[in-house]
Amino acid sequence: MAQVSGSADVPDMGRRQFMNLLAFGTVTGTFVGALYPIVKYFIPPASGGVGGGVIAKDALGNDIVVSAFVASHNAGDRTLAQGLKGDPTYVIVTEDKTLTEYGINSVCTHLGCVVPWNASENKFMCPCHGSQYNNEGKVVHGPAPLSLALVHATVTEDDKLAFSQWTETDFRTGEAPWWT
Ligand code: FES
Repeated sequence: MAQVSGSADVPDMGRRQFMNLLAFGTVTGTFVGALYPIVKYFIPPASGGVGGGVIAKDALGNDIVVSAFVASHNAGDRTLAQGLKGDPTYVIVTEDKTLTEYGINSVCTHLGCVVPWNASENKFMCPCHGSQYNNEGKVVHGPAPLSLALVHATVTEDDKLAFSQWTETDFRTGEAPWWT
């Protein structure tokens, strides 16, 4: 197949060949465009890389590189990263020094304060009006009416951390996610 490396190649191609190429490009583009939502539907977020989500950023706005992140944090750490729609979202390091497959949106479900992690209490404790959430973000003390929202946290092929929408059952409550 003729290579198109720039407009200089175009005069060398027959007009018909060029038109064919254009037509193929248009049809392919349309086809891929139409197929995209269907393919996306069948690819779970874990295997789809970012899959409609975002690459998590650290406090300096840099992409989080998972191997480096894990190496520089302790088991049990809950660290804020920039998540979906810019929401500050906790990244959690497990006991075996990997990351949990979920992140916790830190926005309090009462009136929207960012809820700090209190390691000595093993809880997220909101300074605004005293709401408390367990170490998985499940509400254990009001006035917050709901648990902190979840997102999927997956590792991309190039070792970055990706957040994507959590639309499945909330494993902490067994209920449908209130945030979708
Ligand atoms: S905003 Fe968190 S308790 Fe009110």
